[in-house]
Amino acid sequence: MSAAQPLKGRFITVEGTEGVGKSTNIAFIKKRIESACIGGEKIELVMTREPGGTELAEEIRQILLTPRSETMSVDTELLLVFAARAQHINSVIAPALARGAWVLSDRFTDATYAYQGYGRGIDITRIRQLESFVQGDLRPDLTLLLDAPVELGLARASARGELDRIELEKKCFFEKVRAGYAAQMQREPERFSLVDATQNLCDVKNQVHRILADKLGL
Ligand code: TMP
Repeated sequence: MSAAQPLKGRFITVEGTEGVGKSTNIAFIKKRIESACIGGEKIELVMTREPGGTELAEEIRQILLTPRSETMSVDTELLLVFAARAQHINSVIAPALARGAWVLSDRFTDATYAYQGYGRGIDITRIRQLESFVQGDLRPDLTLLLDAPVELGLARASARGELDRIELEKKCFFEKVRAGYAAQMQREPERFSLVDATQNLCDVKNQVHRILADKLGL
């Protein structure tokens, strides 16, 4: 990360396995932040996602998610994820936070620990090294982890249509990813807030609003 100046905005990420309802929850969070004022001023909100968030990083996303006959090695997958992230941080996230905007990202590095670390079995210390190399000290201020049984999410994901390269993985892969997210949350309980995504929409929305009030004073 090139920006050496202190970051002023808030960095919020939303995580979870496939089909847990990230988009719906992100819409709740967006609405709540956009209706809030801090010191009498509206908050500038930058909505983004990973892998992606810039033209170049979205191209890397396509490479990562397009099914193909050539098997992608797990190291290639890991490096592509961090290549996209480096671009995303430098072009979008760091400048936004530096000018005081809030950034709401659909996934970030916890997904790398969960999918590449726990799912693919890559040594966590290697991910940690890349995290420091690419991000410096940049970490989310708040991460909402949406949790639901894997079969529920996979059923929702397949109902949406054609599956991407990662969605085509077997259920046991996503069980490991879910366990990976739980392990990440145990490691950093202060940063994470768990949302029970099996509840009805109204209850899920209430959970999200409570978290935003408790953690960010919204
Ligand atoms: P989604 O954001 O539409 O759920 O799709 C992104 C996919 O990319 C999802 O299967 C999770 C995966 N992914 C990783 O494997 N590692 C990462 O670091 C990130 C950000 C996403």
